[in-house]
Amino acid sequence: AVSQVGSRLESTTPTAFQVKEQVAKTSPVSSYNEWDRLEEVVVGRVENAVVPPFSPELKVSANEKHWDFFRDNQGRPWPKEHTEKAIAEVEEVCNILTQEGIVVRRPDAIDFTEEYKTPDFSSTGMYCAMPRDILLIVGEEIIECPMAWRSRFFEYRAYRELIKEYFKAGAKWTTPPKPLMSDKLYNEDVMDLSDEERSLQHHQGRHFTTEFEPCFDAADFVRAGKDIFVQRSQVTNIFGIDWMDRHLGDEYNIHLLTFDDPRPMHIDATLMLIRPGLVLVNPCRGCQQIDFFKKAGWDIVETASPLMPADHPLWLGSQWLSMNVLMLDHDRVMVDANELPTIQMFEKLGIKTVKASMRYANSYGGGFHCWTSDIRRSGTLQSYF
Ligand code: NVA
Repeated sequence: AVSQVGSRLESTTPTAFQVKEQVAKTSPVSSYNEWDRLEEVVVGRVENAVVPPFSPELKVSANEKHWDFFRDNQGRPWPKEHTEKAIAEVEEVCNILTQEGIVVRRPDAIDFTEEYKTPDFSSTGMYCAMPRDILLIVGEEIIECPMAWRSRFFEYRAYRELIKEYFKAGAKWTTPPKPLMSDKLYNEDVMDLSDEERSLQHHQGRHFTTEFEPCFDAADFVRAGKDIFVQRSQVTNIFGIDWMDRHLGDEYNIHLLTFDDPRPMHIDATLMLIRPGLVLVNPCRGCQQIDFFKKAGWDIVETASPLMPADHPLWLGSQWLSMNVLMLDHDRVMVDANELPTIQMFEKLGIKTVKASMRYANSYGGGFHCWTSDIRRSGTLQSYF
């Protein structure tokens, strides 16, 4: 089109040069850590969400007491009343963020009920409730992560309108190799192991996902400027971590962390970076590399005990979602209004709490951190170690 000067095509299609001119000088996407002042955020949706198939990947992640629920409800909408309450909670979170001056964007509530089939597997979908799982923001780049659950294969479709808009305005957009998700990606027997045996195998290097091809969820990574921490989990393999390491290049250091966790999936209810020099850890999931933070002079704070009632249906995720908080800036944290010990812990640390209830939203597997993905925070790329 560029060489066809004067043609009809030329008059309706901008040249490469013109397109470049239209791209903003600064990207609308820019976030290097978990704590600089939040300016724009994507908040997930549970509208049109569907219970995922009762598959090996689900069994290995969900607590056994919910297996009957998944067996009976797979492929159907999640319980209506519960979902309505979760939607109302998340709307309130959006209102609060907006009042705080933060731009809130939402994915499209696409239909997740439709069955899809590839040469390697078939499945129905799940939801677009947890943007933190799929969108990994590293600086000005949006990485659409190659997640390992078959029910999440097409989840990116809910975010494409947003991502295209960000790309046109100057963001970088990357889609790593999409996994085939054939049976070769999974060690299915791992789902039937006891927690002890599964943990043992995990520490010995055998996991639910194999190393057949790269896979990773964004929520297994937490960002501290030039240093990015990641765990090898049920959904993030070493092949995927290597892919990220090579993709990001010398400017970033990726650190592999290991925890005592029989169902490792998503690092943000296990270890959270609060602000430079402060890491929040789960007292029940020891971190083998915690000395790295100690040696760098960071304070290690064990999170407070959660108050989630035992009979509350947490279909996905654990009570530790109490520590799955969202930093609005160095001094303000969004935390569950029901989690008084966690609120008091933050206040004692000199961090002001912005409170909202997420009990019903928690049931779908995430807290404030999971339900959001920062698009833009103030600040630049720094080294904190
Ligand atoms: N498996 C995690 C989910 C973290 C977002 C949990 O402990 O709840």
